[in-house]
Amino acid sequence: MSSSKSKPTLEALVSLCKRRGFVYPSAEIYGGLNGVYDFGHLGVLLKQNIRNLWTQSMYAANKNILMLEGALLGPHTVWEASGHTKHFHDPMVDCTVCKHRFRADEIDLNKPCPNCGNKAWTDIRQFNMMFTTQVGAVADNSSIAYLRPETAQSIFVNFKNVLSTNRVKMPFGIAQIGKAFRNEITPKQFLFRMREFEQMELEWFCKEEDVGHFFTFWCEARQNFYKHLGITPDRVRLRKHESDELAHYSTQTTDVEYDFPFGWKELEGIAHRGTFDLQQHTNHSGKDLAVYDEQTKTSYIPQVIECSVGVDRLFLTLLFDAYDEDVIEGEQRVVLKLHPRVAPIKAAFLPLVKKLSAPMRAIYDKITNKGKLLEFDESGSIGKRYRRQDEIGTPVCFTYDFDTQEDNCVTARDRDTTKQTRINIEHIETYLCDLINK
Ligand code: GAP
Repeated sequence: MSSSKSKPTLEALVSLCKRRGFVYPSAEIYGGLNGVYDFGHLGVLLKQNIRNLWTQSMYAANKNILMLEGALLGPHTVWEASGHTKHFHDPMVDCTVCKHRFRADEIDLNKPCPNCGNKAWTDIRQFNMMFTTQVGAVADNSSIAYLRPETAQSIFVNFKNVLSTNRVKMPFGIAQIGKAFRNEITPKQFLFRMREFEQMELEWFCKEEDVGHFFTFWCEARQNFYKHLGITPDRVRLRKHESDELAHYSTQTTDVEYDFPFGWKELEGIAHRGTFDLQQHTNHSGKDLAVYDEQTKTSYIPQVIECSVGVDRLFLTLLFDAYDEDVIEGEQRVVLKLHPRVAPIKAAFLPLVKKLSAPMRAIYDKITNKGKLLEFDESGSIGKRYRRQDEIGTPVCFTYDFDTQEDNCVTARDRDTTKQTRINIEHIETYLCDLINK
């Protein structure tokens, strides 16, 4: 078996996602909507695994974390206080000849338009990336609402609610998984920059003197998370932001970057947001968002450290990292070498020929009823069925053959090595548990 080990192209990955039903362009039969995607069966399963593993990683790092699910729509006041109406801009520029629009920080304006070759730029203008909508029947300024561009603000505006309705003490975290929306000027690179996406965010509240310790702690914890998902460690690094890159709310940010085929890019942002958000919401709402310190008998606004990663961007990262092409027995195959705990389907149950289906289905039913994500597939040649499972990242295929009735064993075919071993039917469940937990 030989493996190319080169990085996949974006096209190869998009094609695999469509071919195997992970991701579809949204409203495709009407020509789609740029930067918006739908997820098929395997995509949904993979996303669920990502969310579950992220939540588990939060609790593994610290037990003092509460969950929240905020609304997607928010009033103007929230986004004015958070600074997003004023600062959440990207610079844009248009080519006056072909009317193509670009992010001004992503192209060289001394050069001609990459789309039409003319050099006729408009001035640079600031473009606010929030989606607005009207709430209620009367459309005026007071009915403007926004689709949230980050999940974090739901956490800050609920800070007092969470604190007063839970038995929790500082330092503690509030974690949330949910949709966010940005009217990106140039959505691109498939799931990397979308207009509708999902974020997994932790806001960690602590005292000022503990910021240094916790910032380091979360940088390490988040790197360990990516190791736990089986992502190649060499392709992950931390990068500290220069001061001119910082978001309006941040005093310090370190990105977890991944070595994508289009270069090192942000996978997750770890930011010290200081007291910015809670202070702003205190000022704008008139509600006191300070906490009381029993020891010093004083109130203070807590400091915030944020860990924020996109479900979809992590989805893309996992696929890039796992994608491989190799040749087995003279035949080229595509294989997703996903870690078994990430893989959408954990095992496939394949009768060698159709007349062996019934006993294999009985084994499959018994195990699947215990909540494992497994597939049963009886149609097509065994080689084709293996290839399909390889492409969707199924770590192991169990095959029931003519010897099974004699020795009560099935073959277990390893996705990565294609090596086959015989294992007793009674040991399948233990085999699967060991695989997922390895
Ligand atoms: N609350 C902080 C915040 O939103 P961000 O760096 O703008 O910070 C955090 O976004 C993470 O959300 C990014 O690291 C990325 O994983 C994901 N993300 C941001 N914009 C995205 C987009 N347009 N499409 C997909 N994922 C995105």
